[in-house]
Amino acid sequence: MILSNTIQSVFLSATPMNSSAPAMQIVDDSFRLTLIISILILLVIVGILVALVIRSDRRAGVTPIKSAKSSWLLQTIVTGVLVILMVILCATGLKGYAKLVTSPQHAYDVYVTAQDSSWIFEHRNGKIQDDGQLYIPANQPVRLTLTSRDMTYSLSLPAFRIKQDVLPARETSLWFEASPGQYQLNNVEYSGENCIGMNAIVTAYEGEAFVEALDSVAYWLDAYTNDELYKAGLRLFTGNCLECHSLDGSSKIGPSFRETFSLWGKARPLEGGGEIIVDEEYIRRSLLSPQVEVVKGYKDQEMTNFTGQLRDREIVALIDFIRRLDEVVDEEGNPLEEIAQTQE
Ligand code: HEC
Repeated sequence: MILSNTIQSVFLSATPMNSSAPAMQIVDDSFRLTLIISILILLVIVGILVALVIRSDRRAGVTPIKSAKSSWLLQTIVTGVLVILMVILCATGLKGYAKLVTSPQHAYDVYVTAQDSSWIFEHRNGKIQDDGQLYIPANQPVRLTLTSRDMTYSLSLPAFRIKQDVLPARETSLWFEASPGQYQLNNVEYSGENCIGMNAIVTAYEGEAFVEALDSVAYWLDAYTNDELYKAGLRLFTGNCLECHSLDGSSKIGPSFRETFSLWGKARPLEGGGEIIVDEEYIRRSLLSPQVEVVKGYKDQEMTNFTGQLRDREIVALIDFIRRLDEVVDEEGNPLEEIAQTQE
């Protein structure tokens, strides 16, 4: 009973209805093919073993047969058959791989970042989902572009038979197409204790329902009006810049933002001679091409390039934050009371 159920599930209905991933059919087919080949090889080997045991019977009264001579023909046939099987398996695998890596141009893009054993999904419109949920449009190709901020992870979508390594400082991608419904997304790389629970539910919505679902996703920065963005800058600073920049005037790996603030609208001497006026554009350039204008005295230090890591509104928040620093923190770099409350 169990056996027949297993055989049925392996050979007949292992794929969820209607959903498709580029390689799904091929993965299933090669799996079945490998299984069939393994069973055949097992039968052949066991058959030969049994035959040899019978033929090598050495009880009294039985004349043992002479050991067989090697046969070129037999060896060639066996090797030939195995090589052909290998080529077939390799070819199906390659076909699936080729489909997997060439994603359709009109795919819906989601940027996936793995960090601290959790998934962060960023949609094209800037909405971020980091609570173990991912909303996607149904019946349309969806492309996930993956990167990690710390360790190596591996993203798996078992319903679509796809799995892809998520690597630090490198982008990988995969794509699939889902019918409406819910699917499991797992991390299948053991990268530390907490990564075991690194799962998410992918929900595919049809048409308008997807737009509505995405609208319901809140992004914390949306809660700030444009005039208040400078307050939001503190949180972005703590998350991204604190390592190298201080707010109290002491220089760390990079210059203190108190210094940058006090130089607003004034000239800043640069490495290699020349100077630059500290303004919005200068801060923006510092973030997006930090190696171009290097502050005098910081030749040997390197600043992170934030291209693709910060969204435009976040950059504006950081610029406003530096420009209006004295409205956010005191001389020691501690948040003013009013700001401290908005950071909750
Ligand atoms: C890995 C260290 C590092 C991180 C992280 C970092 N910076 Fe820097 N930053 C530097 C260094 C070093 C310099 C000086 C060299 C240069 O100008 O490129 C610098 C210079 C700057 C300057 C020019 C300052 C001036 O007074 O002229 C700005 C503006 C700046 N960083 C903004 C940021 C912001 C905003 C963040 C966070 C989103 C950030 N940096 C994160 C290292 C860093």
